Amino acid sequence: MTANLIDGKEIAKTTRSRIKEDVEQLIEQGTIPSLTVILIGDDPASHSYVKGKERACEQAGITSVVKRHPESFTEAELVEEIRTLNEDSSVHGILVQLPLPKHIDETVVLDEISPHKDVDGFHPENVGQLLSGGEGFVPCTPLGIIEMLKLTGIEIEGKHAVIVGRSNLVGKPVGQLLLNENATVTYCHSKTKDLYKHTLDADILIAAVGRPQMIGVEGIKPGACVIDVGVNRVDGKLIGDVQFDETKEIAGWITPVPGGVGPMTITMLLHNTVLAAKRLGR
Ligand code: GUN
Repeated sequence: MTANLIDGKEIAKTTRSRIKEDVEQLIEQGTIPSLTVILIGDDPASHSYVKGKERACEQAGITSVVKRHPESFTEAELVEEIRTLNEDSSVHGILVQLPLPKHIDETVVLDEISPHKDVDGFHPENVGQLLSGGEGFVPCTPLGIIEMLKLTGIEIEGKHAVIVGRSNLVGKPVGQLLLNENATVTYCHSKTKDLYKHTLDADILIAAVGRPQMIGVEGIKPGACVIDVGVNRVDGKLIGDVQFDETKEIAGWITPVPGGVGPMTITMLLHNTVLAAKRLGR
């Protein structure tokens, strides 16, 4: 068997045209959706991600402002800037690019962002909404994964979804979203014994560990849907968490790296920004 490829780029393109139409409609009604990104320090990967976010906003007609600060920017200065943005009615979405320099406490900073402008979905109020099935903001990568499964026509209800990785950014929220869609969810992590015992039973496998090709074909159930969230740079090449070449021969569906989950993450940031603009109005 050869797996069907889930083309994240193509799905993202279609979704972004729909978002662009929403933006046009909002602008006609007098609201220009607007995102402010705060970037501290000079980590090349973060600068590159933020450039991608800026470009995507521009293409969708969303105003984007990037506030770039040196590594020496203090936690107090950052908190002050977030409070000003919280009060600014022309700003709908606020995103603080992670990771932050060591002298800044991430929790303190994320808690300061107004939950109504928290397009990353990292504020405790939004995390709580996700747990209770409420209407808060959902983190972009997990939301992108669910969108991708739905738009590909992959059934979630009643399926056994196995998540490898338990980060706050991806593993935990994607498991919760799958649970909200009535999947049976298993979380695996670095202390899990006999990992493949679990993954071999997965109808939907989400690999989000951040270790290149950690999951081998011997851990994949034939016909499974394999979503690879890993973005590992090895010798200048991007490699996923799953052994792609071998796995694609037995899986039912698989996402490539790059071109799978990645394009959907930024797309969901656009989605969340438009949602914030709709909710907050002008
Ligand atoms: N750094 C890597 N991924 C993300 C993300 O989704 N949001 C933010 N704010 N920072 C990140």
